[in-house]
Amino acid sequence: MTSVSFDSHSGVWLLRTRTTAYAMRLDGDGLLRHLHWGGPLSLEDARRLPPPAPPASSFDGVTGEEYPCEGGARFGVPSLQVRFPDRSRDVEWDYAGHDIDGGELTIRLRDRHHPLEADLCYRVRHDCDVIERWTVLRNTAAGGPAFELLRADSACWTLPALPSCRLSHTTGGWTAEGRLHRVPLPHAETTLTSRRGVSSHHVNPWLMIDAGDADERRGEVWSGVLAWSGSWRITVQRTAGSVPSFTGGAGHEGPAVLLGPGESWQTPVFAGLYSAEGFGGASRAWHRYIAAHVLPHPDELRPVVYNSWEATGFDVDEEGQRRLARLAAAVGAELFVVDDGWYGERRSDEAGLGDWTPNRERFPRGLAPLAAEVRRLGMKFGLWVEPEMVNPDSDLYRRHPDWVLHLPHRARTTLRNQLVLNFARPDVAEWAYSWLDDLVTAHGIDYLKWDMNRALAQAGWPGHADPDRVWSEHVRNVYRVMDRLRAQHPALRIEACAGGGGRLDLGILAHADLVWPSDNTDAVDRIAIQHGFSQIHPARTMSAWVTDSPNPLTGRSLPLDFRFHVAMTGVLGIGGNLPAWDDTELKQAATLVAAYKRVRPVIQLGEQYRLPDAVQYVHQDRVVVIAWRLPSGRGLPVPPLRLAGLDPEAAYRDEETGEVHLGAALMNHGLTLALAGDHASTLVRLVRE
Ligand code: DGJ
Repeated sequence: MTSVSFDSHSGVWLLRTRTTAYAMRLDGDGLLRHLHWGGPLSLEDARRLPPPAPPASSFDGVTGEEYPCEGGARFGVPSLQVRFPDRSRDVEWDYAGHDIDGGELTIRLRDRHHPLEADLCYRVRHDCDVIERWTVLRNTAAGGPAFELLRADSACWTLPALPSCRLSHTTGGWTAEGRLHRVPLPHAETTLTSRRGVSSHHVNPWLMIDAGDADERRGEVWSGVLAWSGSWRITVQRTAGSVPSFTGGAGHEGPAVLLGPGESWQTPVFAGLYSAEGFGGASRAWHRYIAAHVLPHPDELRPVVYNSWEATGFDVDEEGQRRLARLAAAVGAELFVVDDGWYGERRSDEAGLGDWTPNRERFPRGLAPLAAEVRRLGMKFGLWVEPEMVNPDSDLYRRHPDWVLHLPHRARTTLRNQLVLNFARPDVAEWAYSWLDDLVTAHGIDYLKWDMNRALAQAGWPGHADPDRVWSEHVRNVYRVMDRLRAQHPALRIEACAGGGGRLDLGILAHADLVWPSDNTDAVDRIAIQHGFSQIHPARTMSAWVTDSPNPLTGRSLPLDFRFHVAMTGVLGIGGNLPAWDDTELKQAATLVAAYKRVRPVIQLGEQYRLPDAVQYVHQDRVVVIAWRLPSGRGLPVPPLRLAGLDPEAAYRDEETGEVHLGAALMNHGLTLALAGDHASTLVRLVRE
């Protein structure tokens, strides 16, 4: 039973999730200290937890607070830094009460002198172990100058003392997103951050910490995931003599926000999860949480998409798209998406961004005939857009040069030949909504691939009283425009993309249906990218196309089966140049698409288990295993693959061969796989008898 309770005698709050507990206490010195985050505890247990040890020396200060601010004898990383109108920065809190409303707890703090209040917010859900935390800051003055919020994290999470500490996180870059790293956590402040205005290809806004002893199946893992799509920062602290903790929130160092009289500032959610079931258990718990509480349409099966980008690049015209659409429909695609190149003077990445009307030479009759043809072929119709950007060589920029992010007396740096629109401006966001709404209405568009192809720079807002708001309002307006479009067009679905996986986070996933994880579609590279993706994000949010061989980016040649099987571990799509595929390949593709459709509910809605060189899914009585073989150089036989998450007592029948296996044998001994040769792959379907 999940619950929030408070013991007024001891000042202890206890949050209970399905299988974990979280406790904190208002101590005699008026400080709100963390007590416990881990396995279950009763309120009685929590009440008895010992008071904090006093600082070890006159060089040590307060530690273990729920929301450490800058001020007093504190020497760690603050979650909150404020500059008051008198230029001072020390915050001194008084406890000002709390509210419990079902699974939600709000603890109110008030500064002793300045009219600043903070609500520390916690939410537990009935069906999961994730605890959501966020903070609301208020300037309660009726008038007068603003406070400067130099840093306002969502939450600080404190772990128990661990014998050793290991940090799991992703690193990467464009075409190399999501590489999972598991490294000893140094005795230091370790910062994961993006200063790019998007959550970034380079590191995703989440982390896991364990004592170095967890694996996929076993062990205690503490994790935190920030639901934010702009710049962000999470800092983990590990110092001798104190327990590990991490604080995180939106924004990077530097930009500050003015909090005027009567104004409040709400941070995004920084959710935490304790799991005693290893990294695999932690990932599945995040997947369940995202499905139940983040995604707009979690239970809807995602269609098989055909996307034209790798086939045509910018060379998009009606005839070429019709030809692709016919082949895409023949291999079984259910949604046809015209990617970049359909509008304005977009013949390369040098021009046209911002001019969102179909190019007259390429689509002399507009998009309607193509959309009609796509529908006649039995597919839905989707379109690529990049609403936050403009090429200097565009009518939009010539009309509105002031609409881009810029600073007086500074250059306007182009990246990929484009500038960033100041999406924080209400008129820019309104313009974007209006042309998107017109476009979706005019063509009954079923699906938008919303792209974003560069980082923010010279992020100024000349004339605005609080210009650094650009960093947060840009993100919020992206969310708002997506939500307005969805509200206006309830059947519309959105794929989020930022030059591949530049915006993969729980913020965007509350407004989009799935994410394009990388511009690298080489199936071997994708295995690593998808492995990182799966740490937090469920398969139903992972768009994955089968493209050509040799791969246009890496030059690697791979068998069609292998390319399909790797893409089938998420939301299958096809992005290859189908006119160049021969009949055998097209037939094989059609067979594989049909095979995917049979297992799609298991993959998209099931529980995912990462196995060595394989991924397994369990949904109700069905089990799917997709396994592959990477070049080992030795040609040794593949050992039996030990499955997970089955009923040891139950029998499972292989739907292909009819062979029956006992769950215990599949888990304890393993499934023998026919995988001969480099880049061999297989898909096994089991059904519980
Ligand atoms: C980057 C995306 O990741 C690609 O899939 C493609 O849509 C291009 N942008 C188009 O410019």
